[in-house]
Amino acid sequence: MSLRITKLDAWEILDSRGNPTLAVAVTLSDGSLGVAQVPSGASTGRHEAVELRDHDTSHYQGKGVRKAVANVVGPIAAALTGYPAEDAAAVDRYLCNLDGTPNKSFLGANALLGVSCALARSLSTSRREPLWQTLQHQALQHQDSAVFPVPMINIFSGGLHAGGQIEFQDFLIIPHGFDTYSESLEAAVAIHRAAAQVIHQSGYLLTGVADEGGWGPRLESNGKVLQLLTRSIELAGFKPSEQVSIAIDAASTHFFEFGEYHLRSEGRSLCSAEMVDLFQQWTQQFPIVSIEDGLAEDDWDGWQLLTAQLGEHINLIGDDLFTTDTSRLQYGIDTNAANAVLVKMNQIGTLTETFRVLELAAAHGYSAVVSARSGETEDSFLADLAVASGAGQIKIGSITRSERLSKYNRLLAIEREAKLPYPGREFRAGRKKLLQ
Ligand code: PGA
Ligand code: ZN
Repeated sequence: MSLRITKLDAWEILDSRGNPTLAVAVTLSDGSLGVAQVPSGASTGRHEAVELRDHDTSHYQGKGVRKAVANVVGPIAAALTGYPAEDAAAVDRYLCNLDGTPNKSFLGANALLGVSCALARSLSTSRREPLWQTLQHQALQHQDSAVFPVPMINIFSGGLHAGGQIEFQDFLIIPHGFDTYSESLEAAVAIHRAAAQVIHQSGYLLTGVADEGGWGPRLESNGKVLQLLTRSIELAGFKPSEQVSIAIDAASTHFFEFGEYHLRSEGRSLCSAEMVDLFQQWTQQFPIVSIEDGLAEDDWDGWQLLTAQLGEHINLIGDDLFTTDTSRLQYGIDTNAANAVLVKMNQIGTLTETFRVLELAAAHGYSAVVSARSGETEDSFLADLAVASGAGQIKIGSITRSERLSKYNRLLAIEREAKLPYPGREFRAGRKKLLQ
């Protein structure tokens, strides 16, 4: 008899910021159980699918997810109990129809994603195969394209993730000049330690750790971070550009207002063209290979300018711009905006739709970075997804805090169990390479 879904359960848990999120459990007719935990963002894009929250101030200041839990154990469980389990794409389609809204606002993208991921995990248990293999089958066109992801690792944080005053959100490293993932990870840890020394030596206070585990010192300007980061790479004994490069996530939607980008820490506001010039200047001064959300989520004209000016040599990643949505990505492809996409499952709400975005990107020479959220859990699902997707890049956060390390450590386990290619040394930024 074919495998069926026999039971769904869900409950409220806490994420890495201490905010409620969901855990979902799916049981199959052969007894296989899969549990998944749902991440949650802070610098969310306007076009993301709806994360359903209770807005009942008597429970976790309104941030509870009891409604989403009730949707899983109520209407979703009623619809899916007895449903064939093996065609996960059909289950996801059914979930989307059940929700019936374009942005998952009826049942909640958090409820839907929990079910989608828990189902994948229960299938991997049933088939006695690692999750990344199950996901690889689900990814259809990505069959046999599993590849180890090169990590993009947060060292300094600003913006909505840190208490400091700089506007740009993430200053990251890409340790690409290494033969294996584990060597890249070791280099990242050394650079993270060196960064602490550099902050101290430069006379800044080693203040709080930011939401994704990076350093969040109070600095006078965004450009200062790039100096400190380049110095950290050198102090750790690595060659900038050759072995380790820099990536930025400006998350600029969150300081864009009335047509201008407000760099309050620096006492200036820039128009889109001036932002593009600033990035151009930085790419000449620092070993930058990747810029995410350099411009705001609906500043399409600015994105076209940015792409025309820097797209040849730099990865220009749309996060808030694309929100893991095929129609927004298609618009970007049609209008020459960006050349890469950040892929966050909960921006769209199901695994199947996440795979569609990865496929669309691959078909048009856009690179893809599979990404965590700032609010994470100990679930390591993302590591398997990144491997299965063949995206070749993953963004998890810093190399401290266990909600991040569960993913880094899961990748170490996959590295041990599977001989997959690691594209570190082939890592190249920009459109030229992407279209080859
Ligand atoms: P978020 O941040 O999860 O708070 O949206 C991550 C990112 O912007 O990449
Ligand atoms: Zn981002």
